[in-house]
Order: sequence, then C-alpha cells, then structure tokens
Amino acid sequence: MRLVRKHKLRKSQSVDAATQFVDPRDFILEKLHILPVESVPEISLYTAHPASGLGKRGNQNIYGDEHPPYWAYRWAGGTVLARYILDHPAMVSGLRVLDLGAGSGIVGIAAAKAGAGAVQCVDIDPHAAIAGRLNAAVNSVSIVTICKDILDEGSPDADIIAVGDLFYDSDIAEKVSAYLAQCVADGIKVIVGDPGREFLPHSRLRLLGEYSVPDFGNVPGDQNAVSAVYQFLG
Ligand SMILES: C[S@@+](CC[C@H](N)C(=O)[O-])C[C@H]1O[C@@H](n2cnc3c(N)ncnc32)[C@H](O)[C@@H]1O
Repeated sequence: MRLVRKHKLRKSQSVDAATQFVDPRDFILEKLHILPVESVPEISLYTAHPASGLGKRGNQNIYGDEHPPYWAYRWAGGTVLARYILDHPAMVSGLRVLDLGAGSGIVGIAAAKAGAGAVQCVDIDPHAAIAGRLNAAVNSVSIVTICKDILDEGSPDADIIAVGDLFYDSDIAEKVSAYLAQCVADGIKVIVGDPGREFLPHSRLRLLGEYSVPDFGNVPGDQNAVSAVYQFLG
C-alpha cells in the first residue's frame, strides 16, 4: 500500500486538457467536498468523492499519477486516534502535540480542538501540508503544517507525538518505531491509532482504548471494524 509519486506537479503546470485544477490548493477548494468524519462528527474535512477525480487511474488526478493521495481519504488509525483524543482532552490539554504522518491533519485538528497548547502536523507529502491548513481553517483551529521527513532527526520539540495509521509498510514501520523509541527515551509521550495493520509493533504497545470506526476502502453498508489506541512504550 505504499504510495509512490512518479512526479510532482508545479503550480500552474498542466496535466491534460481534462484536468484544469492542478494547483493543489485550488483543486482542494474547488473539487473536494467538506464532509463530517464518520465517528468523529466534531471534525469536517475536505474529502475525495466519486466526482473529485482523485480516485481515477491514469493521468487524471492532482498528482498526474495513478495513486490517490492519502490526505483526501479517511484512515481508521487517524479516525480512532482523533475520537480518543476528543474523548480524553486531558491527554493533550495545554501540551505541544506533534501529529506524525498527518495526512489530512485529522489527529492534529482533534488535538487542537481538545485544547492542545500547540500543534504541528508533519508529513512527507507537500500536498498534505496544504490540505492540513485548509482542513484546520474549516474546523476553526490553529495548527502548523510541516512537509519534512523528521525520522532521521533528533527528538522534536513536543510533549506528545500522535501517530495515526503509519504502520502499513514494513520499511516505514521499522523507521518509525526506531524514531519513536528514541523520542520515548527522551521523555516524549507517544500515542498510536491503528486498525491492526500488518506491521504494527504489538510488543511495544499498551492498549488505551478501542472504538469501531470506518476505514479507507469501506463501502456503504460495511460494518466498521474495531480499531485501537495505544501508548508506544519504547
Ligand atoms: C495512511 S496515511 C494516514 C494519514 C493520517 N494520519 C490519518 O490517519 O488519516 C499515512 C501518512 O503518513 C505519511 N508518511 C509516510 N511516511 C512518512 C514519514 N517518514 N514522515 C511523515 N509522514 C509520513 C504519508 O504521506 C501519509 O500521509
């Protein structure tokens, strides 16, 4: 399920005659629908839909490649973590929260709504940073979005790191686990939301809570599976 970008579009670069909205901000504003998140109705996000063009294969989407971007879809890991944070605001209240692998920014937005002192949303996808800023505005919260791979750096300036659905690939899971272990050793609390992806490091986790939430790929009528929130122990 790894997303590979074949190439990135520059502002105003044309994809083809059928796709006019190549500026990511314009694309999001004009093509995506603002919809409440199922199971987390306190938060609404710019969301892909059948007519948005993001799910099409071929050179029809915002990237000019065939992969739909992660930030436009709802992932169970981020959804369950957002639900948990909103139900347990004391966990983040007044603290500096870093949302790692933020995608749409759902987890960071939940933390901001729950009273976090400051929120940074970090993702390696530059369009996630744009989507996160627009989603924060929709939800009337203030967050900082950063496009960077911080996994080779030292521990960040944060009190708590929140990780939604980042254990879907073995290489990423290995790097993320090593980074989070270093952060825990440096005194940062780490919480993880995950539906039980293949590379979730179970032996490093302590269960905090469970919720039934929808996942990417669910179709109407599907029963929501149970997803969980954990503390990463190091
Ligand atoms: C499955 S999505 C989850 C997005 C969001 N947390 C949620 O639950 O809705 C995984 C996200 O992690 C990002 N990602 C992958 N490797 C990363 C890394 N090294 N650092 C930061 N983000 C990364 C991807 O770009 C993608 O947006």
